[in-house]
Amino acid sequence: MTGTTMDETILLAVESSCDETGIAVIAGGRRILSNVVASQTALHAATGGIVPEVAARAHLRWVVPVLDQALADAGIGLGDVEGIAVTHGPGLAGSLLVGINFAKTLAWVHDKPLVGVNHLEGHLYAAWLTDPGDDERAAPVFPLVALIVSGGHTFLVEMRDHLTYRLLGQTVDDAAGEAFDKVGRLLGLPYPGGPEVSRAAGAAIRHDAAFPRAWLGDSYDFSFSGLKTAARRTIDEARAGEGLPTGRVAAASEPDARLSDGAVAELSWGFQDAVVDVLVTKTIRAAEATGARSIVLGGGVAANGALRTRLAGEAEALGLPLIVPRPALCTDNGAMIGAAGARRFAAGERSDLALDASPSLPLARR
Ligand code: KG4
Ligand code: ZN
Repeated sequence: MTGTTMDETILLAVESSCDETGIAVIAGGRRILSNVVASQTALHAATGGIVPEVAARAHLRWVVPVLDQALADAGIGLGDVEGIAVTHGPGLAGSLLVGINFAKTLAWVHDKPLVGVNHLEGHLYAAWLTDPGDDERAAPVFPLVALIVSGGHTFLVEMRDHLTYRLLGQTVDDAAGEAFDKVGRLLGLPYPGGPEVSRAAGAAIRHDAAFPRAWLGDSYDFSFSGLKTAARRTIDEARAGEGLPTGRVAAASEPDARLSDGAVAELSWGFQDAVVDVLVTKTIRAAEATGARSIVLGGGVAANGALRTRLAGEAEALGLPLIVPRPALCTDNGAMIGAAGARRFAAGERSDLALDASPSLPLARR
């Protein structure tokens, strides 16, 4: 493998930072030859959230079958792989360790170079991925502004070149996805709340539920904890209005204790509108202020239709291309780690077998 070009190098990429076991084969840093994800969502739905020990054990159970499927889908063997990229943080320590030790073992046994990838950098680089038949898809143009919104992170970053980041703003409390998940729980929707709140919001007939926006002055930082508190109060008021007990959460298994579908839809819409409003307004303002030539959106919450549509409309009004991966590439997957790993390999980076999990790894800044 050359140290400087992306050429057609074939990489194997492993992602296990949270609750998806993802392994992908990527060519030339962009082309997805295969991308297999074993999701643990159903497993964690029973507990209403992720139990780290359970997540780590599930990674261990699925990592070998996911690798076999990824190689079979790409039609290659491990001998054809020229390098291995693996997420080494941020994430859950036990989950990260499974992927890292798996990748290190493959690298050692098959004598392949290894590189550790920051999970958040992976979400950013998902914007460079192309599907088969989609090779002409334009790559994001620098300088760009990227909004990354996931279950654990919310940040706005400026990129003037590959692998260089200037953090413009981040959440001062909850991540956007975390807020979606918590409000979903308050509304009695199944785990994870994000997609459920998004679906419920789409069914709203009236669009007048008003939730507060935390603008935090002119800063590019975000805050969602006040919105969550307001949601709790508004949901309680709506419950009282329907003669339901207040101050408690209705489990998804207690349909009788849940708000009517109409109220769930309207409250979901109001909450989602508040989150989307703040995310889009700050991203557009940052793009204008930094002279960006394109905007990138990534992370699990970027699967949200309202966010995608509104940001696309406002970017278009500014004449800026918006690059958003398809939803399955916004949520955790191996392909995005391959795209970022290819850049790191091309920059000459290598990790050795001492590579370890870094549960709170920040995005490298420059
Ligand atoms: O990036 P991701 O898959 O994992 C992390 O790195 O955290 O993001 C997961 C988050 C969860 O909070 C999930 O509820 C949220 O993304 N999410 C959504 C949607 N799909 C996933 N939030 C809002 N609308 C969606 N359609
Ligand atoms: Zn993620």
